[in-house]
Parts: sequence; structure tokens; C-alpha cells
Amino acid sequence: METSRRTVLAAAAAAGITAVAAAPGTAYADPSAKGGRMPVKEPFGTLADGTRVHRWTLENGGTRMKVLSYGGIVQSLEIPDRYGRYANVSLGFERLEDYVASSPYFGALIGRYGNRIGGSRFTLDGREYALSVNDGPNSLHGGAAGFDKRVWDVEPFSGPAGTGLVLRYASADGEMGYPGRLDVTVTYTLDGKGDWRIDYAATTDRPTVVNLTSHTYFNLAGEGSGDVLGHELRMAASRYTPTDATLIPTGQLAKVAGTPFDFRHGKPIGRDIRAAHPQLVTAKGFDHNWVLDKGITRSPEYAATLRDPRSGRIMRMATTEPGLQFYSGNFLDGTLSGPSGRTYRQGDGLCLETQHFPDSPNQPHFPSTVLRPGETYRSVTVHSFNAG
Ligand code: GLA
Repeated sequence: METSRRTVLAAAAAAGITAVAAAPGTAYADPSAKGGRMPVKEPFGTLADGTRVHRWTLENGGTRMKVLSYGGIVQSLEIPDRYGRYANVSLGFERLEDYVASSPYFGALIGRYGNRIGGSRFTLDGREYALSVNDGPNSLHGGAAGFDKRVWDVEPFSGPAGTGLVLRYASADGEMGYPGRLDVTVTYTLDGKGDWRIDYAATTDRPTVVNLTSHTYFNLAGEGSGDVLGHELRMAASRYTPTDATLIPTGQLAKVAGTPFDFRHGKPIGRDIRAAHPQLVTAKGFDHNWVLDKGITRSPEYAATLRDPRSGRIMRMATTEPGLQFYSGNFLDGTLSGPSGRTYRQGDGLCLETQHFPDSPNQPHFPSTVLRPGETYRSVTVHSFNAG
């Protein structure tokens, strides 16, 4: 595409024309627009029912990313360290079969409902809905076959906003017990600075609930390089939602001050993770929703910073969402191994899932996750990468 533009410009210059106006909607990547190259598609395997899965490679502004049409999974995310050396900073697998067989949501899009709904039930407009039960008594991450296990339609783009993918999935009325047909569009964009932006949108034809997120496990030192306990995390949140024994919020918005949950000024993840705090004992580490001080915002605002002092890699997150689930990889038990061939043990990666609070459909004082016909659900999260 760039070649054809150069050819056009060269021909124009030869003809004495100094400026060529681009036709509206022209697909070529204008280098001055920082659009980057068009994503590249390759086969990634076939599911048992014969559906073909593809892998897309995106690159812009110094960030490289590989995304699967299966689950919208970010299979790898490569960013440079302070010396410009690249590493894949997301946990994942080499082969499709491993994602299908038993993935703890590595890199996946999560829907219809990120995190847990207590008792796998909720009532909306006086009607009770029973959801797919897949986590003790609860429904986790959309149920047994959530959006992480669906094949998405993928359309690449490259333009002024950057290079990226538009992923679409239509979830049928009643899927996993949720009412309404939900039409979902998720856009991954890598901009000219190498920032990774996720735009979520959804519409429904019946009143329903929705809470979408991304389940990338980060290890800024590189996947398979050991644990993230030395990473420093800062979260702009003065409160969090404590949980019961099955990780459902009790409904309380508890202050983080004076507890291991205080990340307001930044601290190493390992500093308090083994404190004898009952909430840490129950969850086997951090697996909680932080209530972001900024609340729900129209445009993405600062939420958190993750920094690996060894490599110097830094990730800053901004979101429109009111909550941030920080999960310290507590259930990784050494039975899975990544593309590096090294096994993943507890704490070898962490998730920072921007979201509405878990179990909101059953907690009337939490911000609402109800979506009605005629409305559009929207959520934006931006990950900015740096090294220093
Ligand atoms: C989320 C949950 C965790 C766990 C992981 C997946 O982060 O909060 O409890 O289920 O997903 O293993």
C-alpha cells in the first residue's frame, strides 16, 4: 500500500504536481499519519468443528502484537526494554490446541460478563435469569463458553488512528443464559506511539447486562522469566470490594488505607502479598476489584501503572471504567507452559482487568451494568508502554 502511494507521489512529482489529495476513505497507510502497516493474517489452526482460526500480526510505534480470531486472544505482546530489547510480555501458548484445551483466559476477550455473578443468577425487570455455572456456585467470565471461546469476525485497518483490528461477535439471545441478542464490536488499535487501545461497544434487542474486559496476563520482564512479585504497581483507588469465600463481593466498599490493598503510592506486588489478611488468604493472593477514584468517565482517565525495575518496562493504563480487577495469577500451578517452554507458576503473570464491579446485577448500589435496546454499551481502555 505504501509503495503504491510512493509510486503515485513519484509520478506526481515527475508531472510537476507537488501535492496529491487522498481520496476520502483511501485505505493506504500514509506514513505521516502514523497509521503503520496493515495487519498481516496467517492460518493458526482448525477447531474440532472445522472452523479455521487465524492469527493477525500488528505492529506500530514500536509495539508488536499477535491476535487470534479465537477469543480475540492476544497471543503475544512485544515491547522494548530500556535498551531497546524486545520481549513478549504476555502469557500465552504456542498452539491453538492449548488455548482450546485449558486456558485460564490467557489474553482473551471476556464477555458477556467479566468476573463473577453470584449464584449464577440475577433478576432484571422482575424476571430471574439462570446463567451457565462454571466456578463453584458462580458464573465466571460469561460462563462455560464465554466470548474467550468464540471465533470472532476480524477486519484489519490502517489509518490516521493507527493500525488495528475490528473484532465482531453476535451472541445469540439466551446464550449462556443471558437475555437478548448482543452485537459486540471490539477494536484493538496500536497507535503511532505504540499504545494499545481497546474500544468495546455492544447493543442488544432485549434488556440485559454486559461487562466486557480483556484478560491479558502481563509479565513485563517477559513471559516465562519468573514471577512478577518485584513489579511495582500503582492503582488510583482508595477503596476495593472485599469478597466472600467464593470471591463474590460482600457489597462493602472498603478503604485500602492501612491494609495490603493500598497501592495508591505504588509498591512492589510481593511486599504484602503474604500478609495474614483474611482477604489475601481467601483469594490466595490479590484477586479483587479496586474502585477507581475517578469513577466512570466519558474518556479514558488514569487508572494504574505497572513497572518492572529490572527491564525498565512500564505500562500505564487509562480507562472509562469504574473498576480494576487486579489478579496476581494465584491459580497458575505449574501445569501450563508458554511459548518459551517454561512453566507458569503462581504469580508468574498478573491481570489488570478494567471493568464494572463483579456481581453488579445482584448489587443495586454498584454502578449499573444494565443495557437496554436503543442504548450502546461503550468502554475504552488504553495501555501505554514506555521504558526507563
Ligand atoms: C479472574 C478472576 C480470577 C480467576 C481468573 C482466571 O481474574 O478474578 O479469580 O478466575 O480470572 O483464572
